[in-house]
Amino acid sequence: MNKLAIIALAGALAGCTAADKAGVVEKKPFGTTKYGEKATLYKLAGKDGLEMEVTDDGGKIVRLLVPDAKGEKIDVTIGFDSPAGWEKTDAYFGAIIGRYGNRIAEGKFTLDGKDCKVPVNDKAHAAALHGGDRGWDAYVWKAETFTKGDDVGIVFTKDFPDGEQGFPGAVKAKVTYTIAPGNVWRIEYEATTDKPTPLNLTQHVYFNMNGEGTILDQELMIAASKYLPVDKNLAPAGAPASVEGTPFDFRTFHKVGERIDAPDTVLQYGPGYDHNWCLDGEGFRKAAEFRGKARAVEVWTDQPGIQFYAGNFIDNTWKMKDGKPMCRRGWLALETQHYPDSPNRPGFPSTILRPGETYKTKTEYRFKAL
Ligand code: GAL
Repeated sequence: MNKLAIIALAGALAGCTAADKAGVVEKKPFGTTKYGEKATLYKLAGKDGLEMEVTDDGGKIVRLLVPDAKGEKIDVTIGFDSPAGWEKTDAYFGAIIGRYGNRIAEGKFTLDGKDCKVPVNDKAHAAALHGGDRGWDAYVWKAETFTKGDDVGIVFTKDFPDGEQGFPGAVKAKVTYTIAPGNVWRIEYEATTDKPTPLNLTQHVYFNMNGEGTILDQELMIAASKYLPVDKNLAPAGAPASVEGTPFDFRTFHKVGERIDAPDTVLQYGPGYDHNWCLDGEGFRKAAEFRGKARAVEVWTDQPGIQFYAGNFIDNTWKMKDGKPMCRRGWLALETQHYPDSPNRPGFPSTILRPGETYKTKTEYRFKAL
């Protein structure tokens, strides 16, 4: 037997080649939500090393293991050991966000001449946030795993009734996560409605590309020449403005901590980064990149905006899976989406989905070793 054959045989016997491990590697109970729904945990492994633990409770990411150039994996996200962990926090860690991601000022809007009211669940900012009192993150979805060629993934589906959280229209939603070759996590959203409704879906995953410490010395690029200035309630203060000469200019890489506490009134409202950037270009394109010491994530999307939230409200007393403590600004979120409060802003790209149309958007988090 030649040397290569011996290595291949040894690998096969030990069951430890990367390809052997790829696929849906585990499925197990994950506890019960406060709404009495039973959750399940799925472990998916991509052929190039990216591993994901995900639950059907809101499609939440529990672990994301990313390899460096030597193949050593670290967990770059926040998750908990059961749904109860999320229920003690209010940061939407790693969840599908719907029906309207981000804020709707004062929880009201007018659609086709009809006044609609949704819960003002973000009391501090007098706004509806991430879908209201019970957003799409807080439901157990129907889940089906799949493998297709070198792709492995999970499809979440759920029907939301007309009037859900005050929103008009019964919506059928489908969110597909795929781990594709090259350590790509692809997220595809699809939805239809039976009445006009605002829809702005996103994923609220958080990253720390070193898996520890704060994100302040990690580097970020956002491909946006404009951002949305906000008022003290984090509602858009007007039209998009140029990032030129402001702490919001991330067109070239900057450390997150470099200007996060700069004396800029709009930035201080965060406090720190918690704003929407209006992405340059159209179509599916690179929107951002976030780099740690040995690993980075590129964000690709077809959406017009990205909310960069620097974890300013993460509470130092919260604990995640395995009892690991969390810290303020220890993780950031790069949420691809439409602009906040769009239902009240005729000048912004529309977020209204109408009967007969299919909402279809795509975002990819592409992980790489540095
Ligand atoms: C972000 C939002 C922040 C905060 C966070 C959850 O999307 O922009 O203001 O609410 O979610 O803690």
